[in-house]
Amino acid sequence: MNQTLTAQEIIEMEAQHTSGLYAKQPIVFVRGQGATLWDAEGTPYLDCAAGHGAANLGHGNARVAAAIGQQAATLITLFETFPNDKRAALMVKMASLMPGMERVFFCNSGTEAVEAAIKFARLSTGRSGIVAAMRAFHGRTYGSLSATFNKKYHAGFEPLVPGFSHVSYNNLEALEKALTPETAAFIFEVVQGEGGVYPADEAYVQGVRKLCSERGVLMIVDEIQTGIGRTGKFFAVQHSGVTPDLLCTAKSLAGGLPMGAVLIGPAVKNLAPGAHGSTFGGNPLACAAALAALEVIEEEDLVNQAAQKGAYLMDKLRQIQSPLIREVRGKGLMVGIELKQKVVPYLRALQERHILALNAGLTTIRLLPPLVISYEQIDQLVAALSEVLAVEMKDA
Ligand SMILES: Cc1ncc(COP(=O)(O)O)c(C=O)c1O
Repeated sequence: MNQTLTAQEIIEMEAQHTSGLYAKQPIVFVRGQGATLWDAEGTPYLDCAAGHGAANLGHGNARVAAAIGQQAATLITLFETFPNDKRAALMVKMASLMPGMERVFFCNSGTEAVEAAIKFARLSTGRSGIVAAMRAFHGRTYGSLSATFNKKYHAGFEPLVPGFSHVSYNNLEALEKALTPETAAFIFEVVQGEGGVYPADEAYVQGVRKLCSERGVLMIVDEIQTGIGRTGKFFAVQHSGVTPDLLCTAKSLAGGLPMGAVLIGPAVKNLAPGAHGSTFGGNPLACAAALAALEVIEEEDLVNQAAQKGAYLMDKLRQIQSPLIREVRGKGLMVGIELKQKVVPYLRALQERHILALNAGLTTIRLLPPLVISYEQIDQLVAALSEVLAVEMKDA
């Protein structure tokens, strides 16, 4: 059917039937390879959004595609009450990624991983308080939405879940005051993504670990955006050398197929049969995709590539002479360019130059390219940014 449709027809079909929840862009993408996406007319775009971090391996990975095809023909779905070869192998693999976290709960998205971690924390401690950070983004279902800070995501959906509070990020003293005998967990991103690409100090993450242990509070890290190699370690918390109690991951875990997971440390108690669950969680199809994706990440050394390419990119960005730039910050290939004004017209100008990038808040351009992006493509990105940031643009 797609063969006969024009891009305009496809845009109109979606416009007519969309929920209305997405600000649709006028480009139809039909194919991807590595860090490149092609539109319906065959025009290539450099993808520095990577499906909001779901395409760390790049598009069209042949190993992941073959694993999905093979598993789809073998067994797609199986509830976790029955063990399965692919799930068992993935559990073992995941436990090896974060030594000290031996157990894993599988689900299907980032927000589900956060929901599960919050529920596990309450169940484990018998306490109800959840402390999150200012500027945090954890998802859009009720628990994760309640942990999310920005009021714009709450508007129209109140009342939220009781028991949530927010504390200044990267500030140990503030956290010390915010934890009470009723606090079950502190949840935070090691690099805040949607909130503006703010990395936490390594000493802060270590301090959080110490403080949580002293107070009997569970430490939850949300690695949904920072995980799977993005920041130059497999999980960003590994930059600080500490082990959390609960670790949420999703996005690129299964090479782009929907999958979420929570890694669970020994301090988490009371996870008994029936307490929580998911129909699709740990399905063999997603597990096979994740196994292939993790193999590719290892064999292609994508984690170290993220560290090296990220350092190269940030160095080049810092050399751009533009009075519009307030700060370049980030970790690995999770990079923010904070401007002194709103970013929308600059993102539009990049798109006109066939480069896709994201915002993080109103004034930060966020770059999340696939970890397979080439140095030539990074140079292309930097050249386009230098051009776009040379002249002040007004928001229409
Ligand atoms: C840090 C963080 N947590 C949670 C989520 C929610 O993930 P999902 O959209 O898969 O529900 C996101 C999504 O962008 C995220 O960046």
